[in-house]
Amino acid sequence: MTDFTSIDRYLQKNRQSQLDELFELLRIASISADSSKRPEMTEAANWVQAKLASGGLKTQLISGDGPSLVYAETEPVPGKPVVLVYGHYDVQPADPLNLWHSPPFEPVVKDGNIYARGSTDDKGQMMTHIQSVIAWQRCNQKLPLQVKFLIEGQEESGSEVLETKLPEIADQIASDVIVISDSSQYAQGQPAITYGLRGIAYYEIRVYGPKADLHSGSFGGAVTNPGLALARILTEMKTPDGRIQLPGFYDSVVDLEASEREMWQQLNFSDEAFAEQLGVDALTGETGYTTLERRWARPTLDVHGLLGGYQGEGGKTIIPSWTGAKISFRLVPNQHPKAVTEQLRSFLAQHAPPGVRIELIDLHGGRGVMADPKSPFMKGAMRAVEEGFGVKPVLIREGGSIPIVAQMVEATNADVLLLGWGLDDDGAHSPNEKFCLEDYYRGIRASTRLWHHLAQAG
Ligand code: BES
Ligand code: MN
Ligand code: MN
Repeated sequence: MTDFTSIDRYLQKNRQSQLDELFELLRIASISADSSKRPEMTEAANWVQAKLASGGLKTQLISGDGPSLVYAETEPVPGKPVVLVYGHYDVQPADPLNLWHSPPFEPVVKDGNIYARGSTDDKGQMMTHIQSVIAWQRCNQKLPLQVKFLIEGQEESGSEVLETKLPEIADQIASDVIVISDSSQYAQGQPAITYGLRGIAYYEIRVYGPKADLHSGSFGGAVTNPGLALARILTEMKTPDGRIQLPGFYDSVVDLEASEREMWQQLNFSDEAFAEQLGVDALTGETGYTTLERRWARPTLDVHGLLGGYQGEGGKTIIPSWTGAKISFRLVPNQHPKAVTEQLRSFLAQHAPPGVRIELIDLHGGRGVMADPKSPFMKGAMRAVEEGFGVKPVLIREGGSIPIVAQMVEATNADVLLLGWGLDDDGAHSPNEKFCLEDYYRGIRASTRLWHHLAQAG
């Protein structure tokens, strides 16, 4: 029999040390996109491995061409399901540094929140499952199922090592259900289980014109301006009413179910409050869909950055020799990034004006994910979240992407549970990223219940 009294007593007694431990990890600037941070990547991987080993798990570092994967497992429990916890120890770059109220890698608790880069995405969320398994072990409670961990160091920059290693480690990570805490609750006080994530297809487009910058007085009017050519291409790619114009783009898109639309209506989402939270005077997007539908279940296109031309002080009258844009499409389940690349190629071929040459650089991508909201594991997870947070979770989808998950699901044939402990306004990828301190503890508590309920479900 599982004795949650002793586990709860342990959790109560160890709140400070659980926070101190998270702080240790948050102090490591494990920015995967920054090649000068390779020592920090190694330090973070070693730290996570040592933490898992301290809970009595068998651990292993799986090294490849990039930051190592941390693998760990508890004892097998015959006849019971196997859980695989996925998470990431890498974080986004912290810039612009001047906008942080306290340094990004010197975690502090302020007004009930932990402030640090990686606090919510994903070190804080990922640590809840490590702390929960350690709690079971320290209380001499035999885990009712086997828990495996696969924590990678490149989620924020393409998951190359994991993608390459997947075929080799497929047997090792064999599992019935993958648990991921790297997303959000619906709102403060309203936990959620996410049953869908969007995919992504990320590109850089470059437009090359004259062989050098030209005096725009002498040459303006005689050649295609790469800035204008790029602007035209980008605006033609998405109509003002939010439809993407790549040929065949919507062919594989699965539209929302009527039941989902109804379920999300019940969430009482306020467009006004949302616009105010974002500091915009209007919300825009694809005609015929609500804001939640557009964010969670419809594909879209965004520009992330514009390159080239004169960016300095004052004016400079040139026709730039080249310009560029970083763009991405968010995809819904069933859309494939490879197909989008082909659609984008043919769009660019059709829309390239004469006098410029266009280059398409395929940066990275991943398919979307759908979980079955009616699976037995989902029911078990609902109970665990309710016991951890004291409120019944709602079912949502989310717009963000964890690109490698679709491939992990394919490699393992497992169900997936997206149990997000974060909040929409945590500032992931932004300055002053935070994670609610109590949600760290609630997440740990929910996770201690999760093993019990998943064992019953399997
Ligand atoms: N944890 C996020 C994914 C996420 C964000 C899920 C919001 C649900 C809601 C993850 O770390 C992330 O940032 N993913 C990137 C992937 C990109 C770098 C390829 C994303 O979604 O932009
Ligand atoms: Mn993340
Ligand atoms: Mn992220």
